[in-house]
Amino acid sequence: MIGAGLSGITAGILLPIKVPGIELTIFDKNADVGGTWYENIYPGVRCDIPANVYQSTFEPRTQWTEEYAQGAEIRDYWQNLAKKYNLRKYLKLGHKVVGNNWDGTTGKWTVSVEPQHGEAYQETFDVVITAIGRFNAWKLPDYPGVSDYQGHLRHSSNWDPNFDPAGKIVAVIGNGASGIQVVPNIQPIVKHLDHYARSKTWIAGSFGGEGGGRRLEPNYYAEELLKSFHDPDTYFTFRKELETKFYKRFGNLFRGSELNAGMREDFIKLMAERLKKKPELLDSIVPDFSPLCRRLTPGPGYLEALTENNVSFITTPISHFTKEGIVTTDGIERKVDAIICSTGANIDVIPPFPIIANNSDLRTVWQPDPITYLGLATPSFPNFLFIQGPNAAGQSGTVPNQVETQITYIAKLLRKVSTQGIKSFAPSQAATDDFVAYCDAFFPKTVLSENCSSWANGGRPGGRIHGHWPGSASHVNFVRRDPRWEDWEWEIKSESRNRFAWFGNGWTQKEATGEGDLTPYLKRPDQIDLRSYHEEWFEGS
Ligand SMILES: Cc1cc2nc3c(=O)[nH]c(=O)nc-3n(C[C@H](O)[C@H](O)[C@H](O)COP(=O)(O)OP(=O)(O)OC[C@H]3O[C@@H](n4cnc5c(N)ncnc54)[C@H](O)[C@@H]3O)c2cc1C
Ligand SMILES: NC(=O)c1ccc[n+]([C@@H]2O[C@H](COP(=O)([O-])OP(=O)(O)OC[C@H]3O[C@@H](n4cnc5c(N)ncnc54)[C@H](OP(=O)(O)O)[C@@H]3O)[C@@H](O)[C@H]2O)c1
Repeated sequence: MIGAGLSGITAGILLPIKVPGIELTIFDKNADVGGTWYENIYPGVRCDIPANVYQSTFEPRTQWTEEYAQGAEIRDYWQNLAKKYNLRKYLKLGHKVVGNNWDGTTGKWTVSVEPQHGEAYQETFDVVITAIGRFNAWKLPDYPGVSDYQGHLRHSSNWDPNFDPAGKIVAVIGNGASGIQVVPNIQPIVKHLDHYARSKTWIAGSFGGEGGGRRLEPNYYAEELLKSFHDPDTYFTFRKELETKFYKRFGNLFRGSELNAGMREDFIKLMAERLKKKPELLDSIVPDFSPLCRRLTPGPGYLEALTENNVSFITTPISHFTKEGIVTTDGIERKVDAIICSTGANIDVIPPFPIIANNSDLRTVWQPDPITYLGLATPSFPNFLFIQGPNAAGQSGTVPNQVETQITYIAKLLRKVSTQGIKSFAPSQAATDDFVAYCDAFFPKTVLSENCSSWANGGRPGGRIHGHWPGSASHVNFVRRDPRWEDWEWEIKSESRNRFAWFGNGWTQKEATGEGDLTPYLKRPDQIDLRSYHEEWFEGS
């Protein structure tokens, strides 16, 4: 496994339980786990959906300090989970993966690793799973002159904790979710802020239509409510109601729908209200494309910050950097003490290291578009799986839940591989082509295919969508519930090529060792649910 963000942590918990006998190694280039929430420490970093739903479904924390928790609290939650489930034994922290090579003869991947301390080395694995995050490979813009700039230059995902913006002239480039969080959080303390926003964007109330909406100040829970959450039934009811709202938003996504039109109206009202000190800004911010073409951004305090006298809102494209600042295409140079680039990540999702199998590098195969089977794997790249890969995550719903269900699907594949003598497996080209054709027919019905730049379309307005599953979050959970084994190609290990070589000598292990329950199916009748009776994989041999 490559990556120990919330995906790698969840996999580190679930896979050893769901895949008996798995020998798991989790590499992460960072010194600790947490991924996004370990790396992002810029001012104002916090969850923009309620923390009560942005958490594991099986390890609910009931006592979140704030409704929209700050980054550090989310980081602590996932780090504590890693400790609780003793993931240390699988983790190789400070280990950056720099290459992956498939050997079809041995059926193994050679993974090249650069540890923070010590020599580079290689290790072989039967299966590689990436959980490297969609936003982890952050990118500085490549304008001419970037390297000439002599002030403080950082990406917001690489925030320097020793940098104090107070009293400085600062530029913030980008109005994605990160830029929108940075701007209002530094505006009150900087001398002047130049905010470069080359695209228009919608500012939403709350993300899931939940509660009273967002504001810049912390939304603390009432003490009484937090106390009531100590009762598991009360908390369960609270979370279920809240999380259900996040699984209900899918209808907003369709072109020409009343729901989407309603969002547009609501957001314009909200944006006008928040910009009332400088109403002339509204036209330069309200987009022509529909809400949800780009990911929604609640952006509490963002529009209000733009109306302050120490902020210049600059929509003219950047031409180049100089020693002292930034020049826009109209020739104006603005000198600044610091430039914060909230310019996002590798939105083409090209992996940041080579992945080579059958004489091809996935980085080439995925151009111009990353192609997967159900967001999980790519043909001709055997034994290589993705968590949160291209087209993996459904609109609406929550990230942690969808990560859990993806991992459960992967566990089913790995159980087959480990019990049935499989040497290699990959999705068939035909099944993948059908999935891609389905995606290509589905997305034009949605606002995602409208004329906006977003990470979902690789920054190409109207381009192919690889940021989302072609359906809702409930839909992807349903579709990936049971693997369609016929969509996968399998090569068996046995030299006899007999598909049943794994039957062995006819005895089960429990019988051979005399250990274990030979009648796991016997339960108290009142505890039997006939729908799942005899269908639990762990009942078996
Ligand atoms: C600032 C920010 C705020 C966000 N807020 C929200 C939010 O409010 N709600 C929401 O739903 N989503 C949010 N997201 C999206 C968020 O990224 C996902 O929800 C989730 O955290 C992804 O988890 P992950 O484990 O898949 O990836 P990540 O958290 O990105 O973790 C990937 C891990 O892979 C490791 N890795 C990468 N390359 C290598 C390599 N070559 N070798 C070894 N290790 C490697 C990284 O070090 C990292 O630890 C936010 C993203 C950002 C950037
Ligand atoms: N909890 C939160 O609130 C939160 C916070 C941060 C991130 N996130 C998650 O992470 C995702 C990524 O957010 P992000 O803000 O880091 O990235 P992003 O959404 O991809 O936004 C990047 C921004 O930088 C601009 N940009 C990129 N290259 C540029 C260049 N060369 N010159 C000028 N502008 C440039 C983009 O403009 P164009 O659109 O014109 O390309 C865009 O405005 C979010 O969508 C969200 O899922 C969530």
